Amino acid sequence: MFLPLYQKEDRTPANMIKLGSEILKSYSIEEPVKNAEILLSEVIGKEIPEIYLIKKEIPSQLVKKYINFLKKRIERIPLQYIVGKVDFYKYNFFVEKEVFIPRPETEILVGKAIEIYKRFFDLLPVDILDIGTGCGNIGISLALEIEKARVFATDVSEKALKVAEKNACKYNIENKIKFIKSDLFPDVDLKFDIIVSNPPYIPEKEIEKLQEEVKKEPFVALNGGKDGLDIIKRIIDNAIDFLKKEGFLLLEIGYNQLSEIEKIVEKKNLKIYNVEKDYSGIERVIVLKGRRKWTYYQEENIKLLR
Ligand SMILES: C[S@@+](CC[C@H](N)C(=O)[O-])C[C@H]1O[C@@H](n2cnc3c(N)ncnc32)[C@H](O)[C@@H]1O
Repeated sequence: MFLPLYQKEDRTPANMIKLGSEILKSYSIEEPVKNAEILLSEVIGKEIPEIYLIKKEIPSQLVKKYINFLKKRIERIPLQYIVGKVDFYKYNFFVEKEVFIPRPETEILVGKAIEIYKRFFDLLPVDILDIGTGCGNIGISLALEIEKARVFATDVSEKALKVAEKNACKYNIENKIKFIKSDLFPDVDLKFDIIVSNPPYIPEKEIEKLQEEVKKEPFVALNGGKDGLDIIKRIIDNAIDFLKKEGFLLLEIGYNQLSEIEKIVEKKNLKIYNVEKDYSGIERVIVLKGRRKWTYYQEENIKLLR
């Protein structure tokens, strides 16, 4: 299978991508060309457009590394675990196996949190809590985008927290973000202006039916219990105790979960103020706020969020 790649005749990057993508395609890997390009780009250490400009042959050592990457991809190891990184929002994060891989739809949550900060807290210092931080992508992006933010980020996974710390170091913001091993909320004597979370929300029974690649991600990052709402319910149940009076809670949610969540929220001292759809038109991010009396100005501002 990998023989053509070992043969010496044409080891230019363009040909290696062609051969590599044919192999990936024969194993039904989605987007085989894109995969082959990303893997070779990582091997060579240059951006994709640049590698097509290289007309020289690739040294055998790098060919071996490329073949090794292709083999891993055929075993359905996610591309991001193979290259050890992922683009998210405006940044690039380290990611490793046993740590959830950030998804593009979660960028909507980050965008919404920034919008809320600008509209309601602009220029003021804010305390932000990121529950289930994973590799730190949400919390770190917010710390980088909001100059006066102080971020607390929790996770139950030690491995995730380790990778998140590494990402915070990469962007030199160790002084703005604190990672805490904790079951959802941290044990700190503090209330937050903004709480964000992309919690596990997949119903347990559905996990078995997911793509092989997704099943290589940590179960604890995916599993939302019987109806997918276990963790979401716990966050909503306790959020009010951790939110400042004017605080916001932003949650990423799963397909078809909004109506159930509305029922849960009804019983709590919270209200859904905004629902944001993702790129496929699925209700993906909800913005909640404590139920209280608003001034006219606040009501008008809240309306703009909808
Ligand atoms: C869907 S992943 C999200 C990771 C990251 N925030 C992102 O958006 O890409 C959910 C994360 O929540 C963590 N988690 C699961 N249960 C938790 C709990 N009870 N307390 C804190 N974190 C939890 C998982 O370890 C995982 O990192």
